[in-house]
Amino acid sequence: MNQKIIIGNWKNYLNYEESIHLSKKISKINISNNVRVMVSPNHLYLNEINQIFNETNIEVIAQNVTSSESKSDTGGITVSNLKNLNIKRSIVAHSESRIREKNPQKVLEEIIPIAYQFVLCFEEIDQIPFNLLTNKFEIILAYEPVWAIGTGETASIDHINEIHKKVKLKLEDFSLEIPILYGGSVNPSNSRDILESDYVDGVLVGGASTKIDHFEGILNSI
Ligand code: PGA
Repeated sequence: MNQKIIIGNWKNYLNYEESIHLSKKISKINISNNVRVMVSPNHLYLNEINQIFNETNIEVIAQNVTSSESKSDTGGITVSNLKNLNIKRSIVAHSESRIREKNPQKVLEEIIPIAYQFVLCFEEIDQIPFNLLTNKFEIILAYEPVWAIGTGETASIDHINEIHKKVKLKLEDFSLEIPILYGGSVNPSNSRDILESDYVDGVLVGGASTKIDHFEGILNSI
């Protein structure tokens, strides 16, 4: 069985103490070999949280990146700085950051040539720049219908499979091997069905990933 990828996107739900506390709790969970886990805390806490997970298989990833090299990018997050903290991957184009950054393709054009790993969120298939994607380093896609994010309204399994299947066929046309996660109101009650669906390679979890019992329930659901 292929490993499923489970990402906890903590967004800006947690303050410093809560983030450290949650990290310590998660680092003690006994995680099955079936799953690969990533957590994405607030940028301000990346360094310290990365150290907490240092001895585990859990990867700490950034929530956003805005440019590759050091430059005049006030308020931005650069690949240089992320690499400096040993953060090897970032979420890109999450719908909540797309509100601020209208053109995520620009950042992809900067980070793909330097092979910086990312999790690209999309809501519509035409938001995926298939021609820019590559198998040369690990890229992950995440289907995140905006109406399902933080609303408690999870997409149906049929809907998720329909979209993921379309994207997988398109990826095949470009000879790309890229896993596709689903995100949007994933919780411990629906995670098993979603993770066991044919076209789903994992889940991107927001709210439920900030509560230890919920996140543990999701991690243990397969
Ligand atoms: P949610 O968020 O699980 O709280 O719906 C998912 C996401 O935005 O990544």
